Amino acid sequence: MQLSSIILAAGKGTRMNSVLSKVMHPICGKPLVTYAVENAFDVGAKKTVVVVGHSAEEVQNYLGDRVEYALQSEQLGTGHAVQAAKPNLKNETGLILVMFGDMPLFRQETIQKIVDTQRSNDGPLTMLTVVAQDARGFGRIIRNEAGKVTAIVEEAQATPEQRLIKEVNASVYCFEADWLWNALENVPLSPKGEYYLTDVVEIAVSEGRNVAVVTADDEMETMGINTRIHLAEAETVMRRRILDRLMLSGVTMIDPASTYIEAGVSIGMDTVIQPNTFLYGSTIIGENCTIGPNTIITDTKIGDRCRVLASVLEKAHLEDDVDMGPFARLRKGAHLANHVHMGNFGEVKDSYLGEGTKMGHFSYIGNATIGKDVNIGAGTITCNYDGEKKHPTVIGDDVFIGSDTMLVAPVTIGAGAKTGAGAVVTKDVPEGKIVIGVPAKELRK
Ligand code: UD1
Ligand code: CA
Repeated sequence: MQLSSIILAAGKGTRMNSVLSKVMHPICGKPLVTYAVENAFDVGAKKTVVVVGHSAEEVQNYLGDRVEYALQSEQLGTGHAVQAAKPNLKNETGLILVMFGDMPLFRQETIQKIVDTQRSNDGPLTMLTVVAQDARGFGRIIRNEAGKVTAIVEEAQATPEQRLIKEVNASVYCFEADWLWNALENVPLSPKGEYYLTDVVEIAVSEGRNVAVVTADDEMETMGINTRIHLAEAETVMRRRILDRLMLSGVTMIDPASTYIEAGVSIGMDTVIQPNTFLYGSTIIGENCTIGPNTIITDTKIGDRCRVLASVLEKAHLEDDVDMGPFARLRKGAHLANHVHMGNFGEVKDSYLGEGTKMGHFSYIGNATIGKDVNIGAGTITCNYDGEKKHPTVIGDDVFIGSDTMLVAPVTIGAGAKTGAGAVVTKDVPEGKIVIGVPAKELRK
C-alpha cells in the first residue's frame, strides 16, 4: 500500500525566544525539520507534505522541492494542521504517516515499526507511545481493562488521576488515508480553542475499530524540542549516535566527549580522532589518518595516512600522506598533493602544492600553482593582491624559495630556480636561475 507523509512544522516555537523558526534550529549541522523529512524518505514515503506557517519561507527555501508544502496560516491545533495537507494528498490512497518537525531523535527502525504495524492492522490507525520518566506536557494514554487504548487526554484536560499516568503520546501516527480525512471533520473544538489530532483516537474507538499501538523502548527518541535546553540535549544525543556509528565502523575516538562530528561526515577505518576536534559539513577523511587534537575541518576531502595537528581547514583537499600543523590554515581551494608537508603558521588559499612540496614555517600562499618537491622557505609570501585584483603565481618543480621571499604576482618561477633570502621577486625567473635582492636580480657567477 502506498505511503505518504505529513510533517507538522507550522508552530512558532515561542519558547525558543528566537527570530528563527523552531524547526530551522540545527542539531549536528542540520535543521530539526530535516530529521523528520529524512525519516519519511527512509521508510519509503512517496510524497511528503510539510505543513508550514510561521517562517514558512525559511523552511521552504531550505527544504526546496524535495517535499511539498501546505500553508496553515492560523495555528488552530495539530488536527487542523494535518487537515491543511489534505489538498496535497486528497488523491493519495493508502497510508499517511504523520510526524512533528520538532522531534528529531526518532530512529528509522521506530518509524518503520509504526508503518509496518499499520500495514497489518485492520483498524484505521497505529500510534506511538512511550513510558515517560516525566510525563509533564504530554498527552496521557487512557487504556481500558482489556488494555486497549481508548483515548489520549491532553494534560490541560486531564484529571489529577489521569495525570499520574506514565504512558504518553509520542505523536507519530500512521493512518488509513480516507478514514483520516473523515475523522478530522468530526474532531471537536477543544476547551483551549484548538482542534487536537489526538481526538481521532476516540473517534476510532467509538466506531468500534482497532487502534494499534507501538511502544518506544528508548524514551530519548521521543524527545520534542521546545526550548534551547532541549536543543542542547538533543544535540548531545545525536552527536553521540554519530560518534557511535563511526566507532563501530572502525574509527578511534580518543575522547568522544570533546569530539564534534556532523551527520554528513565520513571517516575511513583506523583513523584516529584526537580530542577537541570538530568535523563539519561534507568532510570526507580516508583511512589511517590522525586528526587533531584541536582541529576544525569543514567541507574538506582528506586521503589516507594524513596527519593534521591543531589546524583549521575549510573547503580544502589533501591527497595521501599529507602532514600538516600545528597551527596551519587551509582556506577554500587549497589542494595539497601526496606527501606535502606544511608546518606551523602557514596559510594556503586557492592553490595547488605539488607532490612532496614542503612549506615549513610562516608562509602565505594564495592563487598559486606549485610543482613537485618545491621548498618554500620560512616567511615566503605570494603577494597575490594589488588592491584590486588577485594575480597568479606559478612555481615549477624542484624550485628552492629562500626564506622571506616576496613573490609579487603575477609571476612565474621556472623549474629548478632558486631565490635568495629576502628576495622581492617582481619578474619571472627562468628555469634553473638564481635571483637575489630587492627587486630580485639574477645572480651571475
Ligand atoms: C502534542 C500532542 C500530545 C503529545 C505531544 C508530544 C496534540 C493535541 N497533542 O502536544 O498528545 O504528547 O505533542 O508528542 O497533538 N503544530 C502545527 N500547527 C498547529 C499546532 C501545532 O503545525 O496548529 C505543530 C507544531 O509546530 C509542532 C507540533 O505540531 O511541531 C506539536 O505541536 P504542540 O502544540 O507543541 O503540541 P504539544 O502540546 O507538544
Ligand atoms: Ca511540543
